[in-house]
Amino acid sequence: MDPYRLPRHVVPTRYEIRLEPDLVTASFLGTETIAVTVNEPTTEIVLNAADLSVTQASLENDRGQRSSATIALEENLERCRLTFPASITPGSWRLTLVFNGILNDKLRGFYRSSYKDAAGVSRTLAATQFEATDARRAFPCWDEPAFKAVFASTLAIDPALTAVSNTRIVSERREGHRKVITFADTMKMSTYLVAFVVGELESTTPMSVGRTPLRVWCVPGKVKLAAFGQDVGVASLRFFEEYYGVPYPGDKLDLLAIPDFAAGAMENLGAITFRETALLVDELQATHAEQERVADVVAHENAHMWFGDLVTMSWWTGIWLNEAFATFMEMLAVDAWKPEWRRWTTFGVSRAAAFAVDGLWSTRPIEFEVRAPRDADAMFDVLTYEKGASVLRMLEQYLGPEVFRDGVRRYLRDHAYANADTSDLWAALGNAAGTPINAMMDGWILQPGFPLVAARRDGGDLVLSQQRFTYRPEPLEPFVAASGSRDQRWQVPIQVRFGTRNGDRVVRLVLDGADARVPIPAGSDHTLVNEGGHGFYRVRYADDLLDPLLRRLPDGLQPIERFNLVSDAWATVLAGLTSVTQYLELSARFTAERDRNVWASLLAALSALNRVIAPADRPGLEGFTRRLVAPAAAELGWAPRPGEDELTRQLRGDLLRALGTLGNDPAVQAEAARRYAASLTDAAAVDPNVLPALIAILAHVGDADRYEEFVRRFRAATTPQEEQRYLYALAAFQRRELLAQTLERAVSGEIRTQDAPFVVRTLLMSVYSREMAWDFVKRRWDQMDRLYPKHGLRRMCEGVIGLATPELERNVHAFFTERTINLGGKTLEQYLEQLRVAVALSEREGEALASYLRRFS
Ligand code: BES
Ligand code: ZN
Repeated sequence: MDPYRLPRHVVPTRYEIRLEPDLVTASFLGTETIAVTVNEPTTEIVLNAADLSVTQASLENDRGQRSSATIALEENLERCRLTFPASITPGSWRLTLVFNGILNDKLRGFYRSSYKDAAGVSRTLAATQFEATDARRAFPCWDEPAFKAVFASTLAIDPALTAVSNTRIVSERREGHRKVITFADTMKMSTYLVAFVVGELESTTPMSVGRTPLRVWCVPGKVKLAAFGQDVGVASLRFFEEYYGVPYPGDKLDLLAIPDFAAGAMENLGAITFRETALLVDELQATHAEQERVADVVAHENAHMWFGDLVTMSWWTGIWLNEAFATFMEMLAVDAWKPEWRRWTTFGVSRAAAFAVDGLWSTRPIEFEVRAPRDADAMFDVLTYEKGASVLRMLEQYLGPEVFRDGVRRYLRDHAYANADTSDLWAALGNAAGTPINAMMDGWILQPGFPLVAARRDGGDLVLSQQRFTYRPEPLEPFVAASGSRDQRWQVPIQVRFGTRNGDRVVRLVLDGADARVPIPAGSDHTLVNEGGHGFYRVRYADDLLDPLLRRLPDGLQPIERFNLVSDAWATVLAGLTSVTQYLELSARFTAERDRNVWASLLAALSALNRVIAPADRPGLEGFTRRLVAPAAAELGWAPRPGEDELTRQLRGDLLRALGTLGNDPAVQAEAARRYAASLTDAAAVDPNVLPALIAILAHVGDADRYEEFVRRFRAATTPQEEQRYLYALAAFQRRELLAQTLERAVSGEIRTQDAPFVVRTLLMSVYSREMAWDFVKRRWDQMDRLYPKHGLRRMCEGVIGLATPELERNVHAFFTERTINLGGKTLEQYLEQLRVAVALSEREGEALASYLRRFS
């Protein structure tokens, strides 16, 4: 019997919860009455509780039987064991518990968040974050997703405050010096979706979607930043009701911006919580990317109201059913809302992020065993989200969008208010498709990794063959145990486009063996594998197939296809299949490129090289970067042209930033300083998409005065996005004494603990700060562990991938060998293997790279 799982002889059906939070003493009192069904005679009830003190427990039924329990808390297992003096008979009972707890500062369970009001005075609010397993820190409960129940909540609060929970308010009354608010019953749902927020909150006027009022809530003074989030909230809710063919399952929908928030956002039914950057934005001052972020997150959480909330995975092993689906639906909804954003092209960046981990021996299958809470937390990674969503996109394109949607509708109808597993999804989709899909999909969900599809010509045929893609020939001993094997196969749905003089011909096939042959049509002048870019595989072309594709740049291929070409080529460099100089020659053919995602891929590779080269080679890389970027940047200039689209504006910012930082271009740096100064007196002087680039460039070359200035601006920021730009700028300086200050700020409480781990991660990734940041992390590890929210260290440690020199790598190994650190799941193994891939690149290619770059210095 797994000690982390609760026995099922007693199950809850309805919770009546009353909580009385006190923001001043940072504590709360609670009582609850849980309607339970006892399935077999027992003297024991076991449920979850953590960091709570449970003072009374008693059971009664409608026949007037009553029994009090002795209470034992099992701290390590986060359980509460109630023992009754005599056996309880099967049937319906009510379990009443009295308990109390603290409002913690760790952004989990029921916690405290603080902010400064307009007068600069510190204020507090209380909020909850329960996923994956922290509802048990707010009230004792059966804290597993399959124990669905109805929740009827009451909050007794300071009358000056406002309270929001999952459902509408049904009554509000005074009891002594407390305001007592009772909320309507929720639908039958999992504990991790319950939410409470209590504080001085302001809201927008509700907008209606059918019968659902939708509002945005935030701390006072910020409602002016809520319109964009509310708009995308309304648009995506409409989109989903139509797509899913099932009405929104709640009775209202509130979107709440919480000043301290560990994740990006959380899909509590009817009361979605967000970090401020993910919901509040000033449309006129924000970049395209910042707006897209808000749209993404809002659409994602809305998508969960059905996928996750209405139908829930049975156990955390299947969390991809929630997260991959919400990510996939987020794309569909945002794409429908703003087709001009070409959201599916940008999704290529996410797919590439999944490849980066899934190409490791330390990857895992999408569905993966989970026992302890820490391992449940580690499931929230790129494999669950980005690989999962990519695989769904591939399937959707393979089955056809309507068939796929019909299958989704059936799945939701069949499992509403209940739980489901991956096989249930395949059954519903297979049913809609009229053909079983398990065999194909099992390969993608239950096997780790992905295929590299090699394409070559053989006479008149195109020959496609598959092989598992791995960066390294062997797992990394002794840290990494291989997941899966070298000779895995997949059923790969492939679309090939043959370009002929009479137009394009697309051929579809499923590559399920080692290889397949496709006749090349007469007159074909180019062959593109993974046409449309939806496949979750990488492609390696033989030279005679690659050359015609490169001749078609920039516009003879779709943006996603160009993106994949670059991204796949770079992956083969890391895997040792292509030389780095070959890759740089290839990237030099992209000077006429105008898609920001393709550029993102090109620039990310240069940043990765920057981390593995010797300092003496840096001027060469700077020169190469300038040569690559300058033509496009020169054409775009510094200011938008009338009628220019948003993506081009964003690209301008991206290119200028690259020139001014990685390219170290003095002219760009000087012009950035002039334009930044101008923007301070006239905000309209600089396009919002360019301003963050200016800030990054000025930090890169900044002195102590600039640092002080940016600290002030960080503190005085008027939008969450502005605050973030200055915050991350503090990690982008080059001078040691300034970077040391930023590190201190990351543990002093000045930087919110929701952000600090990410700032440290950035410092670990920067060649100017990585050594000192790593020293700091080692020395302050325990302090950080106490201070940061639970995902914090896991996220922060991702930065060790940037410690890409042989000495630093040895040091990293020593640290993690000496201290047994568990980041959950396979997280640490993955970081160490990624670090090895980077260092191996420098060992393999360092000399060739140095001599190649020399001519650009
Ligand atoms: N369910 C998650 C929030 C979450 C993440 C809870 C990790 C517990 C652990 C939520 O739906 C989510 O996925 N949020 C994302 C943002 C989203 C747009 C990808 C996040 O928090 O990063
Ligand atoms: Zn999610």
